[in-house]
Amino acid sequence: MSTVTQEEIFKKLIAHCKEYGFIFPSSEIYDGLSAVYDYGQYGVELKNNIKKYWWDSMILLNENIVGIDAAIFMHPRTWEASGHVGAFNDPLIDNKDSKKRYRADVLIEEHLAKLEAKIEKEVEKATKKFGSSFDRQMFVTTNARVLEIQKEIDSIRTRFVEALEKTDLNALRQIILDCEIVCPISGTRNWTEVRQFNLMFETKMGSVADEAMTIYLRPETAQGIFVNFLNVQKSGRMKIPFGIAQIGKAFRNEIVARQFIFRMREFEQMEMQFFVRPGTELDWFEVWKEKRLRWHLAMGIDPNKYRFHKHDKLAHYANAAYDIEFQFPFGFKEVEGIHSRTDFDLGNHAKFSGKKITYFDPELNQSYVPYVIETSIGVDRMVLLILANGYTEEKVDKEDGTGDERVVLRIPPALAPVKLAVLPLVKKDGLDEKARAIVHKLRYEFNCQYDEKDSIGRRYRRQDAIGTPYCITVDHQTLQDDTVTVRDRDTMQQERVPIDGLLRYMGEKVSLRSMLEKI
Ligand code: GAP
Repeated sequence: MSTVTQEEIFKKLIAHCKEYGFIFPSSEIYDGLSAVYDYGQYGVELKNNIKKYWWDSMILLNENIVGIDAAIFMHPRTWEASGHVGAFNDPLIDNKDSKKRYRADVLIEEHLAKLEAKIEKEVEKATKKFGSSFDRQMFVTTNARVLEIQKEIDSIRTRFVEALEKTDLNALRQIILDCEIVCPISGTRNWTEVRQFNLMFETKMGSVADEAMTIYLRPETAQGIFVNFLNVQKSGRMKIPFGIAQIGKAFRNEIVARQFIFRMREFEQMEMQFFVRPGTELDWFEVWKEKRLRWHLAMGIDPNKYRFHKHDKLAHYANAAYDIEFQFPFGFKEVEGIHSRTDFDLGNHAKFSGKKITYFDPELNQSYVPYVIETSIGVDRMVLLILANGYTEEKVDKEDGTGDERVVLRIPPALAPVKLAVLPLVKKDGLDEKARAIVHKLRYEFNCQYDEKDSIGRRYRRQDAIGTPYCITVDHQTLQDDTVTVRDRDTMQQERVPIDGLLRYMGEKVSLRSMLEKI
């Protein structure tokens, strides 16, 4: 197999997702809808398994966290109180020649990423030159070329952060001009002014046009939790510290919607708001930051593909914020945010609704507005993470009727859409009936597939391509001693297992429990 770039691999992954029923462009027969996607038969199973892993990790493993499911539509005042009407904006800029629209901040970030890549190139060259004696730290702190690029990066970054903090749109534009950033389509620097663009989708509620109320499709699920804080606290007699978790759809009219399901206009979030005593929030922030990373690592993914990123610019509601970033094929990018949201949301909802939203702390004999630590992760980004991490093209020994290359999705077994496939070696001599009987026995516990078409090797390859961790093959020996072979997706090794022991055997291999225990 020839060497391929990450970009090519990513393109192949997108094609693979469509070919194998994971993800399709929305309304494709009408040429699709930009940044909206549908999940196919395997995609939905993977997505549901990810959601269950997250939900169980919150609800089953924490006696002080409960779940809710709030409506997508909320009273419009919600979004004034939350700050989204006033401040949920992206700075956009148009290129006058190509008529293409960009996020001004993204253009600058991409420029910075290019400069950082230049440093990496220098490091790579030096690594080759000096071999095992190469000292990276020494090199990047002394090499003249690297220092020059680093100085440029630091200077742009300082101006960038300042412009974002002050929401200074002219300053953002000036950085784009000074850095000589060109439109990737027209190649020109003929830019418009930078303008603010609110990301919320609006719709009308009510049947009579002039009486209809403008409402928004929620841009985050968190507000459904905040407005229900008192309902849950009182009905559940919850004592601080406690959390409320929710999984649901969110909508953002993203200007730059790219990179497949990484940035979508309709997506799903898994959010948990943890309510704490004022003054303890930064301790809880550390607790949740570490806990959420453990959730990711418990899937068995290489820890080097993860890193924390501290926010340079804090959102309007936060006093601390970190992203958990993952190394996607297009670089390290945010998959989850952990935010210390202070008492901003509850305080503002109290102000805007005129209702008292406080908690009486019996230990302190005092009422206060709780502070909040939020963990917020995109379901779709997790799907992409699992698929990008798992997609592997490799050279292997031929199996019956197959070539010596295979595409395999190394999805953590507990998250795989199909847990096992039962395959009769041949479609006769009663092997097919025996195989079906095994499916009937196991289907209550696991998502199973039965497949009798084509050579056994081709069937293995089909299961590899959708990430099925185990293939159970029924052969003539099965008829004699009631044993089957179990083929492991990753090692392609087979072992003989009695049919009677299959339930237990598979349970140990593919249950969520083993992951949950590691958190
Ligand atoms: N309640 C806080 C909040 O919404 P965020 O950083 O804007 O914070 C949280 O979003 C997570 O939601 C992100 O880390 C990402 O995984 C996911 N997300 C945000 N925008 C998205 C989009 N347009 N498409 C897919 N996922 C998105």
